[in-house]
Amino acid sequence: MIPLSVPNLDGNEWKYIKDCLDTNWVSSVGSYVNRFEEMIAEYSGAKYAIAISNGTSALHISLMLAGVVRNDLVIVPNITFIASVNAITYCGADPVLMDVKGDTWQMDLDLLEEFLSEQTAVVDGQCIHKASGRTIRTIMPVHVLGNMCDMDRLTELASEYGLNIVEDSTEALGSFYKGKSAGTFGLLGTFSFNGNKIISTGGGGMVVTNDDVLGKKAKHLTTQAKADPLEYYHDEIGYNYRLVNILAAMGVAQMEQLPGFVNRKHEISKLYNDQLSGLEGVAAQKMGEHVEANHWLYTATFPQQRDLLNYLIAAGVQARPFWVPMNQLPMFRDQLYFTKENVSDKVYGSCISLPCSTSITDDEIMTVTNLIKDFYHKKG
Ligand SMILES: Cc1ncc(COP(=O)(O)O)c(C=O)c1O
Repeated sequence: MIPLSVPNLDGNEWKYIKDCLDTNWVSSVGSYVNRFEEMIAEYSGAKYAIAISNGTSALHISLMLAGVVRNDLVIVPNITFIASVNAITYCGADPVLMDVKGDTWQMDLDLLEEFLSEQTAVVDGQCIHKASGRTIRTIMPVHVLGNMCDMDRLTELASEYGLNIVEDSTEALGSFYKGKSAGTFGLLGTFSFNGNKIISTGGGGMVVTNDDVLGKKAKHLTTQAKADPLEYYHDEIGYNYRLVNILAAMGVAQMEQLPGFVNRKHEISKLYNDQLSGLEGVAAQKMGEHVEANHWLYTATFPQQRDLLNYLIAAGVQARPFWVPMNQLPMFRDQLYFTKENVSDKVYGSCISLPCSTSITDDEIMTVTNLIKDFYHKKG
């Protein structure tokens, strides 16, 4: 079996985790937590990085810190992993689902602008959805597969309409737009380190921000909001969202290897592109202008997608379909979905993600691409 995207643990993971066990620093405080946070802050250029239990909790906390409250609306792309939209609902808010572009698979900013200008009004600096009277507090771009939309334009639109930005940059550690790291364009950004991400701590996440107040508050809220070093005095409802030292130790070891991982992801993407280039109707994700992407998960659109997917799986290749668009899920079917041509559905119906672990060999990639060529050859 050629796996989709598995962790690459060839660095100091054992050594650092053993250090935690040897020294008994296994829980939610410890030097590796601090080091991991410093490394992410330095790499991303964010002033604050707050280690957290996973990407979903990072999104939840970030939306709360951005001021999202019950009955608010948050704009989010219709093609994303469920966690982005779930996090919105954890705050008691609802999503406004925005259709995506057919080539980059990021939120369609033309549609966004149309929606904002036609359906919202800025009242006392706050964006109000005219039909429902509800406040649209936040826009959450999702840097799908490590790609990004036109972040200059998104930032301008957000400020014109009184919206703050919380980035679901969980897939985009190692991606840059005009040299600036994913996660650092908005009020807050988020990273995930689950098993399939470019670096993994098994499960883990990070909130990043340049805001002094929010940076401190993120740490406070994720550690049960304990306000006194001795007394169990908690000054608000907090969360036990802290990343433990053992997992942060793994994160430190992974961060040491991140530049190499990004390089390898670039090579993998290039090799797939070269090998698949002659096939009619096959198109890799188009990277946005000015985006230096991390190429986290190699994905392309394929004719006869379902048949090909089944063919690859039967041959031992762990290929995967794209996410079912949010507007097709029972929980979000009745939410506002802004679209002209339902591009999300076309993207969903044609994309396949292919194995691209940083440890994959070039021969394994050729095995996958030869299988794909065979499939189309047999189909005539
Ligand atoms: C786009 C997106 N958002 C959010 C998440 C949630 O991250 P986690 O699995 O660490 O909770 C993920 C990853 O799984 C993701 O891909």
